[in-house]
Amino acid sequence: MVGVVGLGTMGAGIAEVFARAGLRVIGVEADPEALARGRGHLERSTGRAVDRGKLTGGERDEILGRITLTTSRDDLRDADLVVEAIPEILDYKVSLLEDLDRICKPETVLATNTSSLSVTAVAAATGRPGRVVGMHFFNPAPVMRLVEVVGTVVTEPSVVAGITELSVRLGKTPVTVGDRAGFVVNRLLLPYLNHAAVLLDLGLAGRDEIDTAMRLGVGLPMGPFALLDLIGLDTAYEIMGVLFDETRDRRHAPAPVLRELVTAGLLGRKTGRGFHGFHGFPGDETAPREPERVAGVTFGVAGDDTSSIAEALVKAGFAESDDPDVLLRLSDRPVVEHAVRVRRPSSLVGVHLVGDQVAELAATVLTSPEAARAAAGLMAAIGRTPVPCKDRAGFVVDALLYPYLNDAVRMYDSGYASIADIDAAMRLGCGYPAGPFEMIESLGLARVRDGLRALYAEHREPAYAPAPLLDQLVTAGMTAFPRP
Ligand code: 3HC
Repeated sequence: MVGVVGLGTMGAGIAEVFARAGLRVIGVEADPEALARGRGHLERSTGRAVDRGKLTGGERDEILGRITLTTSRDDLRDADLVVEAIPEILDYKVSLLEDLDRICKPETVLATNTSSLSVTAVAAATGRPGRVVGMHFFNPAPVMRLVEVVGTVVTEPSVVAGITELSVRLGKTPVTVGDRAGFVVNRLLLPYLNHAAVLLDLGLAGRDEIDTAMRLGVGLPMGPFALLDLIGLDTAYEIMGVLFDETRDRRHAPAPVLRELVTAGLLGRKTGRGFHGFHGFPGDETAPREPERVAGVTFGVAGDDTSSIAEALVKAGFAESDDPDVLLRLSDRPVVEHAVRVRRPSSLVGVHLVGDQVAELAATVLTSPEAARAAAGLMAAIGRTPVPCKDRAGFVVDALLYPYLNDAVRMYDSGYASIADIDAAMRLGCGYPAGPFEMIESLGLARVRDGLRALYAEHREPAYAPAPLLDQLVTAGMTAFPRP
């Protein structure tokens, strides 16, 4: 029998996962109101599965029938495993673990679903630190296939092995790691999300543009702001705080806009509003934009490999000109240096094609609003989603992606996790189409290294300097990471 303490979004999802695997579950909440909310989560989630034809009504009843809900922790005395999923506040977790240690039989394994707090600190609150382990699920727990199993220096190896086996029985893929803030996924994911919030605050691009660029350009299931809203901005804020405390890396300081939204009670999906549903961000859907009118606009294309875009525009009915309304400068670097060399700098717009669907459009300080709008219209006319942004190193996608990839290389090089585990964790924990090492290899090691150098040159941010391992592999002419 398994206990789950805390039936918020994550706890209820975890209880559902156990019950779906045929285990009996006792779900515990602090008071009757919270318990009713937990019951609501369980009923909605399983009801949705029935609506989609994934479960029959009978199966749903069986799953819910395996879950007993209670407000009494004492009901956990005979549990073999208790997973806590209460808010990310160390004092709360420590006091809960002290209680569970007193209530549960000595052999019960106590697991924490903490996202970033020290499992060791939680374990030390009990008289059984060897039987305390991290069991970190991902939101939505019934869907995401990863479980990070976190062993501390004192966790008994048999406990880690048991939780790993159990995770497989739950239909999950376990990745076993040591106790460092953020483990694998949150250590790589949250700085990327925080960075997106910082870039939004700096006005690099609008909220929806950044979300779209990462979804359509990189193939991520959600853009960073949609994902922040799913995770909960309070949770994201807490995790960033813990990461910052451990690393003192200023990139890990929570973005000011996160603090503002959290203070205002706009926590994301759980409160109905967060980055989305908030009136006022650039790119908010509440201010629908007119489709750009581009009939009759003339264009020019400069840079490398201009033929395919020129052909597509001509095919779409636009005329190429020597003195065009819009001069599209293909580049993966800022384009202002090109703008100052052309006859009409106000007509020049930087274009960075990302994948098959996205065109990042960099307006320089000299670009006219008309040329910027026309460039967006031209890209839409050839089937690419325009992502208007400022003329900065990396534009949107590379500025967000490359530091994340660099962090993954540093993590591997530190010996914390293997390439295979890091790749699997990001694919299965976040639904990414590929892990960071797979992404670097498909983009090209040299391209990522050079992109990082450009980001470093612009921002002088030490963390953007290419990881020494990446740099050395490129120097050695390698196109893939060595795998054992
Ligand atoms: N509960 C249960 N099931 C859900 C669900 C939920 N809240 N949300 C979606 N699902 C199920 C649907 O029923 C559907 O199942 P089916 O394929 O069997 O019919 C499936 O998930 C796909 O759902 P949808 O078609 O409605 O939606 P999408 O295709 O857009 O997928 C998503 C939704 C699975 C959330 C996808 O967008 C995704 O993978 N997003 C990334 C989520 C992510 O990164 N999570 C990790 C966050 S980090 C974290 O949790 C760590 C923590 O410590 C902060």
